[in-house]
Amino acid sequence: MRNGNQMTNQTRYETRSEEETMAFASRLSPMLAAGDAVLLEGDLGAGKSVLARGIARGMGVEGPMPSPTFTLMIPYEAGGRRLYHFDLYRLADPDEYYAAGLDEFVGGDGVAVVEWPGMAELDPEPALHVYLDRGAGDETRVITIENRGVVGYDPDALAKWRCGDVN
Ligand SMILES: Nc1ncnc2c1ncn2[C@@H]1O[C@H](COP(=O)(O)OP(=O)(O)OP(=O)(O)O)[C@@H](O)[C@H]1O
Ligand SMILES: [Mg+2]
Repeated sequence: MRNGNQMTNQTRYETRSEEETMAFASRLSPMLAAGDAVLLEGDLGAGKSVLARGIARGMGVEGPMPSPTFTLMIPYEAGGRRLYHFDLYRLADPDEYYAAGLDEFVGGDGVAVVEWPGMAELDPEPALHVYLDRGAGDETRVITIENRGVVGYDPDALAKWRCGDVN
């Protein structure tokens, strides 16, 4: 889709299992630097948490990664890099996000990976906007990524999963 002269910067990928989404996310992981945000959009069960875990595993985070549904955010550290995993599904309103001081961890000293960013009306930059949709098969997921300012993002390195561009 064209927006005046401006082309949208979206790339589409497809995975066929949870393991493949983990592998995709691990490959995405080294493209992210401190201050970058990954905003994960998609319905319940779309695969946002799987993708978040894959990014963390790719950074070298080991051990269990419980859902931050009730705590809203869980911090991780591996090899001197920080990752903040957010799940804002239970957020009452954006005020609660700021009152809890969570804004400090987006665009801060680590990578912020956020499920349900709309609950806090988040629109940080740099950020990868990641949309997860169900595909044709039960375990197919279509992953659309729009890059807004993430310098290290390299769609070519994800070519194995690429299934089209959206312009
Ligand atoms: N290709 C795939 N990629 C990711 N997950 C898949 C895939 N195929 C099937 N699944 C399954 O879909 C589910 C995804 O669950 P997940 O917890 O990641 O969803 P979510 O988007 O985080 O949901 P919620 O909004 O409840 O947090 C898992 O049960 C996983 O096994
Ligand atoms: Mg989840």
